[in-house]
Amino acid sequence: MQFNFNDNREVVALLGAGSMGMAIAERVAANRIVLLGDISEKNLKASADRLRFSGYAVETMVVDGADKGSIEAFARRAAELGSVKYYIHTAGASPHQTNPQHIIRLDLVGSAYALDAFGQVMARDGAGILISSQTGYMLPEPLTNEVELALTVTPADELEALPCLAPDIVSNSGIAYVLAKRANQLRVRKAAMDWGRRGARINTISPGVVVTPLAYDEFNAAGEGYQEMIRQSAMHRVGNPAEIAAAAEFLLSDKASFITGTDLLVDGGTIAAIKTGAYKLTLS
Ligand SMILES: NC(=O)c1ccc[n+]([C@@H]2O[C@H](COP(=O)([O-])OP(=O)(O)OC[C@H]3O[C@@H](n4cnc5c(N)ncnc54)[C@H](O)[C@@H]3O)[C@@H](O)[C@H]2O)c1
Repeated sequence: MQFNFNDNREVVALLGAGSMGMAIAERVAANRIVLLGDISEKNLKASADRLRFSGYAVETMVVDGADKGSIEAFARRAAELGSVKYYIHTAGASPHQTNPQHIIRLDLVGSAYALDAFGQVMARDGAGILISSQTGYMLPEPLTNEVELALTVTPADELEALPCLAPDIVSNSGIAYVLAKRANQLRVRKAAMDWGRRGARINTISPGVVVTPLAYDEFNAAGEGYQEMIRQSAMHRVGNPAEIAAAAEFLLSDKASFITGTDLLVDGGTIAAIKTGAYKLTLS
């Protein structure tokens, strides 16, 4: 039997029911319905149980964050449940989890589809967070203005065909991830214009190394590199999902009512270390 002990019909939709997403959702879920989407039924069940047994109203849906139709169905379901107050997008895959094409399809194009789909359903005074990454600041060479504009405004259906995302340029998963996460930071500007017409806001957060299952896959494949990056960062340590959630809670709240279309870097000073020459990055 489905219980609902809440009376508020506002909805929090989370696509990517993993560590960071759940840490954020838990901060804003009280007296709201949480709609969880994820490709993993196992993650969905674990995350839904965690919320349900803490008194939250929760519904789950298997969603492929790389598939336009699946994302649009998720947004429609959110709107059916009630007034969509918050959208949190944390569905993603990291360089050592998959191939370059899948990273482009999920982390870049899928995110763009989600921003479009939720731009159609957000409530007035609603807000969203898309999790990008510090790697969006790690491009070996800055993108030209022309390429940045193309990544920002090209219709989502046409993104994959952009010359800057051709397979000979996106030759490995590391480059794919950096480009996808930079594109997230850019894409949110276009989304801010669309969402703004509904009175809603959208921003990215770019986390540094935050310990989650995804991060562990990275550590297991390239632990020494990460160890060194963490050692050389300004804070000399990893972050945890609660620290990202604190930043997200601020950006979602009315305290951030004039903040939209921008990125907040929450990285413990890794980019500071790179930009001051204290740490030399090598992308593989
Ligand atoms: N952990 C870090 O150090 C770190 C740093 C910077 C950015 N990020 C980004 O943060 C986001 C969240 O990652 P996390 O660290 O919380 O990892 P996580 O593994 O806890 O969560 C990721 C979730 O995304 C889901 N997912 C994967 N593919 C999907 C798909 N096709 N459709 C729908 N859901 C899918 C996974 O099942 C998982 O539940 C990712 O976009 C990641 O790139 C992570």
